[in-house]
This record gives sequence, structure tokens and C-alpha cells, in this order.
Amino acid sequence: AAAASRNIYAVDHKVTVDTRAVANGHKGGVVWLTGLSGAGKSTIAMELERRLFQKGWQASVLDGDNVRHGLCSDLGFSPDDRAENIRRVGEVAHLMAKAGLLVVTAFISPYRTDRDRVRAIDPDAFHEVYVATDLNECERRDPKGLYKKARKGEIPEFTGISAPYEPPAEPELHLDTTGKSIDESVAELVAYIEARFGNL
Ligand code: PPS
Repeated sequence: AAAASRNIYAVDHKVTVDTRAVANGHKGGVVWLTGLSGAGKSTIAMELERRLFQKGWQASVLDGDNVRHGLCSDLGFSPDDRAENIRRVGEVAHLMAKAGLLVVTAFISPYRTDRDRVRAIDPDAFHEVYVATDLNECERRDPKGLYKKARKGEIPEFTGISAPYEPPAEPELHLDTTGKSIDESVAELVAYIEARFGNL
């Protein structure tokens, strides 16, 4: 229902987004990593956070495995639960971006409609990065042994095996990690982020 019909009215901030950007030396925004389990999202996100922080940026990661221990501990991996997971994280990420942070998110976020809903909250602040490591490579890496379990039928609705992954049609950045070091992938992202968020 429309907010007004529920007697809800937005309050204006006195500290604006622009004021915060000037103070921080960069804009806030959401860099949304999407890709299969084992694609490298978390590793890239945490190294990216470290590199940006080193440069004096206000950067913060929201990671799937972490968020599912708290904010989303009530959710599983059905399509509806994943949609709710991404909805909550999307709202939180945009709130953090409004607070001036460069937010990096690392969620499989396998459904296009869920990601597009997050983009729609504030399209200018949202940059979708497809961590495009293919399934064979993810399964070869299998850092947590989850693909092995999924192949044995021990994990229902596992992305790429028994649940779908819908690649972004037009991501802002396409990052193939196959045959690339973490440092190389992160360097590419840092350059992208500096160009988009560093110029006030
Ligand atoms: S989603 O689809 O965006 O809501 O998933 P996300 O919050 O990123 O959580 C993914 C991590 O949960 C573990 N896990 C599973 N992933 C996919 N499918 C199933 N069924 C599943 N069950 C548990 C897994 O460790 C994922 O972590 P990453 O870092 O992506 O490997």
C-alpha cells in the first residue's frame, strides 16, 4: 500500500548525500557482485574492501554467509527465501550507501528480478558486477565441498546443480576470474570504482 495511506511520511535529512561525499572524498553507492557459489565473490569483496580502506575510503562488505547468520538467519534457499534475502540486503545496502559508504555486496543473487528490484531502489547508485566464473571452474575449486555434496543430492536447491542461476543481461562490469589472480580482479574493480565514485 502507498505510504501515505498507512500514515507514513518521509523525513528529510539535514546532512545531505552530497555533503557526505565531499567529506569522504568519494560518493556512496552499491557495488553488487553476483555469481555462482565458488565464483570468488567473497574473496574479491574482502580484498576490495581492504584496498579501498587503505586508500582512505569508507567501504564496507555485506556477505551472504555472514548476513545469513544474523539479519537473514530465518531464511533458506527456496526462490521466495532468496528473494526476501536479496530484498532485505538490497534495502540495507542502499541505506548504507546513503550514509556515504561504498558498499560491496557478495550474494549469489541468482534471480534477475530480485537483482533488478534492488537496482530500482536507486538506479544511479547501483552497479552490478557479474563475477562470471563458469560452473566447471567453480565445481573444480569447490572451496567448501558444497558441489560435491550437492551432486550426491545432500543439498537441495543448490545453485548451478539443482537450482537456477540467471546471469545478468547487462551488468555494469563483467569480471571473468578464470586464469586471473585475486589481485588482478580486484585491481580491475578498484579502477572501475575510482572512475565512477571517486570523481565528485
Ligand atoms: S542467495 O541465493 O543470494 O540468497 O544466496 P547467498 O545469501 O549468497 O548464500 C549463499 C551461500 O550459502 C551457502 N549455501 C547455498 N548456496 C546456494 N544454494 C544452496 N542450496 C545453498 N545452501 C547453502 C553457500 O555457502 C553459499 O556461499 P558462497 O560464498 O556463495 O559459496
